[in-house]
Amino acid sequence: MKFIAKHKIFLSLIAAIMFSSFLSGCFATNEKKVEEVVSETTTSTPSQESAQPVAEESIAQTPQESAPVKTEKSSIFPPNLKQAKAVIHPPYETKVCTLCHKSKNPKNGDDLIMDVPDLCYQCHDKKAKEGKKFVHGPVAAGACTICHNPHKSENSSLLKISNINELCTSCHTAKEDFLRNTQNIHPPVKDSCINCHDPHTEDYKFQLRGDRKKDLCLMCHVDKQEWITTVKNKHGAINIEKGCQNCHDPHGTGQPKMIKGDTIKDVCLKCHSKTQIRDEDGAKLINMGKLLKENPDWHGPIQWGDCAMCHNPHGSNNLRMLKKPFPTTFYSAFDEKNYICFECHDAGKIKNEFTTDDTNFRNGNVNMHFIHVNKKKGRTCRACHDFHATKDYPHHLKKKTHFGKINFPIRYIETPTGGSCAPACHARRYYDREKPVKNLK
Ligand code: HEC
Ligand code: HEC
Ligand code: HEC
Ligand code: HEC
Ligand code: HEC
Ligand code: HEC
Ligand code: HEC
Ligand code: HEC
Ligand code: HEC
Ligand code: HEC
Ligand code: HEC
Repeated sequence: MKFIAKHKIFLSLIAAIMFSSFLSGCFATNEKKVEEVVSETTTSTPSQESAQPVAEESIAQTPQESAPVKTEKSSIFPPNLKQAKAVIHPPYETKVCTLCHKSKNPKNGDDLIMDVPDLCYQCHDKKAKEGKKFVHGPVAAGACTICHNPHKSENSSLLKISNINELCTSCHTAKEDFLRNTQNIHPPVKDSCINCHDPHTEDYKFQLRGDRKKDLCLMCHVDKQEWITTVKNKHGAINIEKGCQNCHDPHGTGQPKMIKGDTIKDVCLKCHSKTQIRDEDGAKLINMGKLLKENPDWHGPIQWGDCAMCHNPHGSNNLRMLKKPFPTTFYSAFDEKNYICFECHDAGKIKNEFTTDDTNFRNGNVNMHFIHVNKKKGRTCRACHDFHATKDYPHHLKKKTHFGKINFPIRYIETPTGGSCAPACHARRYYDREKPVKNLK
């Protein structure tokens, strides 16, 4: 009986799974998957010879609730393999049935001259299907006909299902739920699983077409390949541990850019909640997780969870992998183009010598930002502000300014209309927006 023939494949597949599976959870789901595929492919096979016993068996095995799910399923997998004309397997087309069957006029599939896959390897290259380091479960089990119709099909490559992803997820059911329920699916995954996985055999784990840390991704993301190798300031994250997968999920996640965390900040803090060592000079980098925990007044973009508004996670040519330049030193000749800050803040607060509205850091209409920053030996923002988080003073003013190896306390005091500070640079000086103060030298 056909049913028995199918079952033979089915049983040998199960045996192979048991053999190869070290994950017991995997086994349970795969077992169910295989049954599903048997039933599904049978019902969707166009060939009229399809034997009824299998259909009956599968109906008996399939819980009734699953029926509506199936309709929905097909709606997320529009056919993409359907051919205008039926694809006919050349040996079948010859009508010499004895190329595969014992009988000249076979009535079923249990009189094969030899078992699948050896039957197929009479003509097809075994090495091409099983010759690489990793062999796909059903191929290793010799279950070619789980995916292919040996005679003909309406789909390319004689496949039994009209969409590759439907074929794959008929066994990998967890991935079907994933495709249905995940917000941001990687476009090549939505398109076809075999963009990255070979259905038969490959040299990389999970039958991937390239090393999953980086090379696979860079096959398609050629611009990234160029970027990460040519930027001056490279990010260690790309070359350690899981490479691109430190931050991205290859199939997709609920988040934009398929990041592996609720926010970009969460992804960064997976590594930056401890001290990291900078590649370029061996310097110890600040423990950002700790800094944020201890300083509750977070800078706007960090409140939004988006470190990548300022840093390029793939590296950059600027200081600290910033997306736009920022001066590297305490003093710097002022140049508007040198400040990433003006991506969000109005440059007027530094550029205009006199103002009544560009900034609150003014003494009457004298712009104190201008005085401090806008000159040949201007102080950069880091003299007074922290860019990540603070707790002691408002306006992200730092408790201490780092000058060379020394930290000077700035001793800021805010008033309703101004403020004052007394860093080591000068004695306490005042500014007042309403009643300008004359500071003694
Ligand atoms: C390339 C090898 C090959 C050739 C050639 C071939 N068959 Fe088959 N046939 C198979 C295999 C393998 C099965 C078992 C399919 C399965 O288990 O899903 C099968 C199953 C069958 C079945 C029962 C299941 C079904 O698909 O309905 C019939 C009937 C059948 N073949 C008829 C024929 C006839 C008639 C010819 C010649 C015109 C022929 N086959 C030529 C490989 C072949
Ligand atoms: C008697 C020789 C022969 C046997 C046995 C045979 N094939 Fe083929 N098969 C061919 C030829 C010839 C082609 C067309 C040339 C090619 O693609 O290599 C082909 C093509 C195919 C294709 C590609 C079809 C397409 O249009 O892209 C698939 C899939 C396939 N065979 C699967 C199988 C499977 C599965 C078996 C075993 C059940 C099998 N073949 C057994 C000769 C054979
Ligand atoms: C898990 C499903 C699956 C199994 C099992 C499977 N194949 Fe395929 N096969 C595919 C898919 C999908 C393609 C289309 C690949 C593409 O378009 O690049 C394909 C393509 C082919 C082709 C035509 C293209 C090529 O790569 O030459 C042949 C021949 C083939 N398979 C033979 C086999 C043989 C023989 C077996 C059993 C040893 C087998 N397949 C088992 C899914 C499968
Ligand atoms: C007939 C059921 C079936 C179909 C259809 C099927 N697979 Fe599989 N797949 C398996 C089995 C069984 C394993 C082996 C599981 C194991 O070793 O734990 C496997 C393993 C895998 C693995 C490795 C998973 C791991 O954890 O090691 C990947 C990746 C994979 N399949 C992708 C695909 C893709 C892509 C397709 C569609 C072209 C596909 N599968 C179609 C049954 C199937
Ligand atoms: C953009 C490339 C890409 C595409 C397309 C893709 N995968 Fe994967 N897949 C991967 C990578 C990379 C891994 C390895 C993940 C890891 O290292 O843990 C993987 C792992 C897997 C695994 C084993 C681990 C797991 O997540 O369960 C399965 C099963 C799998 N993929 C199935 C699929 C299916 C089904 C599809 C189509 C719906 C698909 N993949 C499409 C890249 C891809
Ligand atoms: C440290 C975490 C991290 C690593 C490692 C990482 N990415 Fe990203 N990637 C991100 C973040 C965060 C975004 C969103 C960027 C943004 O908003 O500017 C992103 C965006 C992207 C984008 C889409 C937007 C763009 O910049 O083109 C692609 C494509 C991308 N990454 C590919 C890769 C590849 C390929 C690798 C490995 C070579 C990789 N990423 C490694 C965090 C990372
Ligand atoms: C088969 C080609 C292919 C492979 C392999 C591939 N990608 Fe993509 N990826 C694309 C395409 C196509 C897009 C959509 C267009 C674009 O944004 O460039 C995309 C988009 C992305 C995006 C942006 C998603 C968004 O939400 O905007 C990220 C991030 C990404 N890929 C990361 C990766 C990573 C990480 C890998 C390796 C695990 C990888 N890609 C492997 C083709 C690929
Ligand atoms: C997988 C771990 C990992 C993740 C995730 C990670 N980083 Fe890093 N990061 C490192 C390592 C290791 C270094 C030190 C090596 C180096 O110089 O790049 C580093 C260095 C840095 C530097 C200093 C670069 C320099 O030249 O001084 C910045 C800034 C940075 N990371 C920002 C981020 C941001 C923003 C994110 C989130 C998008 C992030 N990192 C995610 C591991 C990681
Ligand atoms: C508003 C822009 C901005 C945002 C948002 C931002 N950073 Fe930074 N980051 C900077 C600037 C500017 C520097 C350079 C500071 C300096 O050299 O004085 C820097 C430096 C760093 C450094 C190196 C610190 C050291 O020890 O030298 C790390 C690590 C870092 N940032 C990580 C992050 C992480 C993680 C996030 C998100 C939680 C983040 N940054 C968000 C602007 C930003
Ligand atoms: C991506 C946009 C963005 C960038 C780039 C940016 N900021 Fe901000 N900044 C904000 C937002 C939003 C706020 C308001 C929320 C808050 O108080 O943090 C803010 C607030 C501030 C404040 C405090 C305002 C107040 O009165 O409390 C200071 C100081 C500041 N930023 C300095 C800087 C400096 C210095 C840079 C350059 C290193 C910079 N910012 C870059 C978005 C940005
Ligand atoms: C000498 C110290 C000092 C320097 C250097 C400095 N700031 Fe400020 N900044 C202040 C003080 C003090 C305030 C608080 C003003 C108030 O509200 O009374 C302030 C306030 C701000 C604010 C809040 C809005 C406003 O203007 O009142 C922003 C944004 C800001 N600074 C950005 C910057 C940027 C960008 C730089 C570098 C280009 C910079 N600051 C350099 C001391 C400084």
